[in-house]
Amino acid sequence: MNFPPDACAPATRQGRAARAVWLTGLSGAGKTTLAHALEASLHRDGLRACVLDGDRLRAGLNSDLGFSDADRAESTRRAAHVARLFVDAGVIAIVALISPFRAERAAGRALFAPGDFIEVYVNVPLAVAERRDPKGLYRRARSGALPHFTGIDSPYEPPAHPALELRTDEWDVAGCVDRLRAHLGLGRHGEGMAPPR
Ligand SMILES: Nc1ncnc2c1ncn2[C@@H]1O[C@H](COP(=O)(O)OP(=O)(O)OP(=O)(O)O)[C@@H](O)[C@H]1O
Ligand SMILES: [Mg+2]
Repeated sequence: MNFPPDACAPATRQGRAARAVWLTGLSGAGKTTLAHALEASLHRDGLRACVLDGDRLRAGLNSDLGFSDADRAESTRRAAHVARLFVDAGVIAIVALISPFRAERAAGRALFAPGDFIEVYVNVPLAVAERRDPKGLYRRARSGALPHFTGIDSPYEPPAHPALELRTDEWDVAGCVDRLRAHLGLGRHGEGMAPPR
């Protein structure tokens, strides 16, 4: 069957964009906020994207896991495998997960073709994250009610060479999304899509 020349354009465009955008950083850094803002922005472009958020995963797939180092590593491993399935299906997988350990993030990257795992360090000083404390977790951790909390009594290993670093205490959400979009080869809204890679 002959298709008109641009019949496959959306699929081609989507296929080019399907990658894992892996947002790592402290609790309160802004991963969930940015993940959903990026998802909405990609949807406006007609691209298929979905958020894999640590809290949502904990409610289901990872409900058997706690907050020990081993369980945090396992939750990172599972998220990477799920993200890979989404990317294989042509969907941009936006992962919002503290994922505190370098080794597990590297193992996640190894599941993807080169360039298809974009490690984004959502970076704020601990003091800023703690001041935001959007879920009251730092307060509980400081009081001892929440042991093994990343940044307080559990380590966070920042990426050594992230593809992108977003300082959410310096750039607002729109500015961070613009940087993410630029990294994905997409223009700002209203500028249209970038030419093929
Ligand atoms: N530039 C920014 N980007 C993202 N969030 C921002 C920014 N500036 C301020 N914030 C605020 O910081 C908070 C970040 O909370 P968010 O739940 O997104 O963090 P998180 O990294 O997902 O934390 P957790 O690991 O606990 O899920 C929100 O209240 C958000 O409004
Ligand atoms: Mg979150």
